[in-house]
Amino acid sequence: MSATTSPRTFRVKSFGCQMNVYDGERMGELLQAQGMAAAEEGADADLVVLNTCHIREKATEKVYSDIGRLRRDDGTTPLIAVAGCVAQAEGEEIMARAPSVKVVVGPQSYHRLPDMVAEAAQGRRATETDMPAEAKFAALPRRRRSGPSAFLTVQEGCDKFCTYCVVPYTRGAEISRPFADLVEEAKLLVEGGAREITLLGQNVNAWASEDARGRAIGLAGLAEELARIPDLARIRYTTSHPADMDDALIEAHGTNAKLMPFLHLPVQSGNDRVLRAMNRSHTAESYLKLLDRVRAARPDIALSGDFIVGFPGETDAEFEDTLRLVDAVGYAQAFSFKYSARPGTPAATMDGHVPATVMDERLQRLQAALNRDQLAFNKASEGKRCPVLVERRGKHPGQWLGKSPWLQSVHFIADVRIGDLVEVDLLEAGPNSIAGRPLS
Ligand code: 5AD
Ligand code: SF4
Repeated sequence: MSATTSPRTFRVKSFGCQMNVYDGERMGELLQAQGMAAAEEGADADLVVLNTCHIREKATEKVYSDIGRLRRDDGTTPLIAVAGCVAQAEGEEIMARAPSVKVVVGPQSYHRLPDMVAEAAQGRRATETDMPAEAKFAALPRRRRSGPSAFLTVQEGCDKFCTYCVVPYTRGAEISRPFADLVEEAKLLVEGGAREITLLGQNVNAWASEDARGRAIGLAGLAEELARIPDLARIRYTTSHPADMDDALIEAHGTNAKLMPFLHLPVQSGNDRVLRAMNRSHTAESYLKLLDRVRAARPDIALSGDFIVGFPGETDAEFEDTLRLVDAVGYAQAFSFKYSARPGTPAATMDGHVPATVMDERLQRLQAALNRDQLAFNKASEGKRCPVLVERRGKHPGQWLGKSPWLQSVHFIADVRIGDLVEVDLLEAGPNSIAGRPLS
């Protein structure tokens, strides 16, 4: 493609969190609405959108190596657009460092992507990293098709300012999408084939709006309303902050049958001094008490979390507190990361840099404990019977893959279709999946 022809095919590559996956889908829909077609798997695309993540340094480096890899054998490149949080944080630098990038668009402005691509096709590089309070969502096309499990962004941004985190700077202040818009989008997703909807937000449980009668409503109320959509079978939400886990939401886990028994509730550390330095508003004890209440409402709930090891100043003894907390909780799964200093965040200039070898060792020990608990959680599911939402074909002939209510991957042989909810006996559990047998 020369610089002055409009692209006809596109590919969107999303990195990082599920919110980026949602944004990537919406960008695809926008481009399709302009008459462009998604490039076939493996085929060359005229336009490539790199929808980037800025949360850790490695994620940022990946963008530059990906830009390099897009160069074709004949030396040309597709029209490259960088979207997402790296675009927001480092837009100018990308434009200066990577001449092949023609469009830089932040997460709050991607409804303008088609116009910007058109400009770039005329030879003018385009940058848009404003964070307008006005919602981009209204400017996006209506949802049409969806897989069995769909994402729905209900809340964006973060006001918590954990001292290590770039999100408040890249995604901006917390905003909640209006109730009515979400109910409408959920219905469209279900009409388009979704049986499960995962509500997304950086602080999804801080979502707040007004219902049709103007009364204040929170995430539990939204989940209750969505549960009324007949063909919607499952509702999930992620990611939550302990400070926003209100009574109504905890209670909903015991009363809303469509709300799945799974909660991703990051704790980050098990040590109170580190938690204070991180500007988390909870202690290890208040977090554990909160989980007790969640478990009282829904005893079989699967718990998940995020951890950071090697936060500035973290001592061996403080790290041991994290291992103790892990033992106390018994997570069904969790994510753990080495601390990565992010420019512009308060923690980046804190004293007490933890050496890489110490971080490596702590991460290994933490992950060994988390893997042990994940396997134990899966093993404890052996012998249970549960509905599995069929998501895709497996590697073997006749094999299908789906998810249990506790978000475990289940594989089984059966004559089913994508989107079916199948009753399955869970037979043999491994660390990452469970072999099952459907009832015939
Ligand atoms: N370094 C390492 N991990 C981080 N996270 C956020 N910022 C950083 C950072 N600077 C982790 C937190 C968060 C998850 C999405 O990423 O655990 O919950
Ligand atoms: Fe980042 Fe903390 Fe906000 Fe989560 S709650 S997005 S870790 S600042």
